This record gives sequence, C-alpha cells and structure tokens, in this order.
Amino acid sequence: MDFKKYIRDIVNFPKQGIVFKDITPLLKNAEAMHSAANSLFNLIQDKKIDKVVGLESRGFLFSPLLAVKLGAGFVPIRKPGKLPSEVISTSFNLEYGIDTLEIHKDSIAPGDRILLHDDVLATGGTAEAACKLITDLGGEIVQCNFLIELDFLNGREKLSEYTIASLIHY
Ligand code: PRP
Ligand code: MG
Repeated sequence: MDFKKYIRDIVNFPKQGIVFKDITPLLKNAEAMHSAANSLFNLIQDKKIDKVVGLESRGFLFSPLLAVKLGAGFVPIRKPGKLPSEVISTSFNLEYGIDTLEIHKDSIAPGDRILLHDDVLATGGTAEAACKLITDLGGEIVQCNFLIELDFLNGREKLSEYTIASLIHY
C-alpha cells in the first residue's frame, strides 16, 4: 500500500519552520490502518518479544496493536507527572524543545525482550531517551520500530547500537 497517500504535511506546526507529518488521514481509513498495523508487525524479524514499549502520545496508537499481535505486554513511556507509581526519568532535546520521559520502575524485568515503538523517528532524541530508560531497567532492546522515519534528520545515528526498522521513509 502507498501509505504516503494517507499522510499529509502541515507546514509551521507545532512551531514556525516545522513541517508536521499528520497521520490522522491514515488512522481514519480502515484499510490503511489495518495494512499499517500488519506491515509494522511484518517489520519485526524476531517475534520473541516480552513487552512492547510505546512512547506517549502518538506511539500509543500502534504499540498495543503490535503487543496483541506479538502476544506481548504493553508498557507506556510517558511525559512527566503522568505515571502514578515509582518512576525513573530522563531529559533530552526534542526537534522542537526539551522534554522529559518517565517509565514505571516495575514495568520491565531484567532480561525482558523489548520492542520499542513510536510513530516518528526524527532527530532520534526521543527514542534515544526511551532506550536509555529501557536499558537502565535491564531490558534488552530487540528492535526499535517506527511508522515514519525522517531520513534527512539522521535520527538512526543516535540509535546505532540497536536494530531499527521503519515502514515509511521521507
Ligand atoms: C514527536 C513524535 C516522536 C518524536 C520524534 O512526538 O511523535 O515521538 O516527536 O522526534 P525526535 O526523533 O526528534 O525526538 P511529540 O513529543 O512531538 O508529541 P506527541 O506527544 O504528539 O507524540
Ligand atoms: Mg511522540
């Protein structure tokens, strides 16, 4: 399927100079949604995954679908102050600003085989921070999986020690 037909550019969102990839046309189309979920699943070579870790907010759209298909659990990484129990945190530079991410301390057991999923790999700051949280808890990152990768931002350089797979490249 030509997924790019279902992704639109929004210029100067959320800030001046940023071209935002809007996936809501893909999400609202039943066939495109079904095909995207299957194709993301097919990117995963090694299916022995204990937990899919998804990144708030847009990483939550496909992570639980992948978790169900893999027979894995789902673990959220959230923006600060959202997770109710004990967390570990890390701060990082985003394409547009600085952000902090948190994960529940008890969400990953040492040796857990992890699939990390997010909607977009841009500069890689978000995914790099997420990988740090996962590995700090002893998780083994089997793959980092993205719906969209913005190749020209070279985000995968920050993730060079991991296996990266993206469905759509710009
Ligand atoms: C966006 C996108 C990725 C991240 C990628 O999230 O969903 O998570 O930026 O950027 P990076 O590779 O440069 O770090 P954002 O925090 O903007 O918002 P969201 O809550 O809508 O997912
Ligand atoms: Mg995000």
